[in-house]
Amino acid sequence: MKIDTTTYKEINRPMYIIEEARLRNNLRIISNVAKRADVEIILAFKAYALWKTFPIFREYISSTTASSLSEARLAFDKFGSKAHTFSPAYTDYEIEEIAACSSHLTFNSLTQYERLHETARKQNPEISFGLRINPEYSEIETDIYNPCAPGTRFGVSADKLPKQLPEEIDGFHCHCHCENGSDVFVRTLAHIEEIFAGWFKQIKWINFGGGHLMTRKDYDIELLVNTLREFHNRYPWLKVIMEPGSAFGWQTGPLVAQVVDVVEDKGIKTAILNVSFSCHMPDCLEMPYHPAVRGAQTIEEDIDYSVPYIYRLGANSCLSGDFMSAWQFDHELQIGENIVFEDMNHYTTVKTTMFNGISHPTLAMVRENTNELEILREYSPKDYIERMD
Ligand SMILES: Cc1ncc(COP(=O)(O)O)c(C=O)c1O
Repeated sequence: MKIDTTTYKEINRPMYIIEEARLRNNLRIISNVAKRADVEIILAFKAYALWKTFPIFREYISSTTASSLSEARLAFDKFGSKAHTFSPAYTDYEIEEIAACSSHLTFNSLTQYERLHETARKQNPEISFGLRINPEYSEIETDIYNPCAPGTRFGVSADKLPKQLPEEIDGFHCHCHCENGSDVFVRTLAHIEEIFAGWFKQIKWINFGGGHLMTRKDYDIELLVNTLREFHNRYPWLKVIMEPGSAFGWQTGPLVAQVVDVVEDKGIKTAILNVSFSCHMPDCLEMPYHPAVRGAQTIEEDIDYSVPYIYRLGANSCLSGDFMSAWQFDHELQIGENIVFEDMNHYTTVKTTMFNGISHPTLAMVRENTNELEILREYSPKDYIERMD
């Protein structure tokens, strides 16, 4: 079926849609940065794990980052290369399989390293070990996403790092960005160097984590490339790795939902949809953020429901708070019409739940050039029941 990507009018079921053309555009931008700055940029699965699209990724990048055994297996089995893995809590009962699926294994603490590195090495003699460091500097404003807030459980701060690193530590890993621009990276890098450069002679690689939103329109790519080149000039022996997730899936397509009913209470009109914020767009409630809806204006303050065509959008779950306010449309919403939530692929598609047994949106891709819709995965009640089998 051919799809009109301006309206998605051919679609009448909930569906996450990846537009291949947009995905390739992001991949081109990212692989150009990697080439020009002489760094390796790898995909963070935590943000994007739609493995049926991995053959497209493989045309542009060759590795990925995992944060669990399942993601490490995904790297090995479906992406076709061993992962750069970081978890704050490796366990005795998973470390061997994780090591077997990983090229790089970053430990969150020196105790995790001491406990587990020999087992990991035995399993995979080629593996390279890293240590997560914490520069105690981050410009992330939302606390839930800030790994440098006081009391953090992530990484080793400079005051706790021994002058001589453990012999088998080859690299540093540092993650302290979230949807940031390269100006933030410049300032953060200055802190990292000020605090940790004394150890750089002892390591071979440094991973600057995720949160570098290099595919956003206003991202200053030249500043990033120049900053990384200058870093290379200062420390030519260090291989630089970056592991963004969001940047890959950024604005690659929407979640298309449909209006099922319109109800009203105390003058507030709610269009009830066949999707849920809690189950299918959890970051809207968690972050929180107000997603863009195609053809509608978001209204954040002074919502006046007596103004025509202003609606809450409500979910099909039993959670009272599973709604968001408000959007103004240019017409009265009709049952069956599409509501197109923009930019719903990164994080969303990996975080969904089947709470209430609500039908999970289909995963699909619109092919470049032909605009043909390719179904990646459809769900049925069997999927809900089998999760607890
Ligand atoms: C260790 C680590 N690496 C990479 C990422 C990916 O970040 P983003 O999707 O913001 O680029 C995250 C996100 O939380 C992370 O914790």
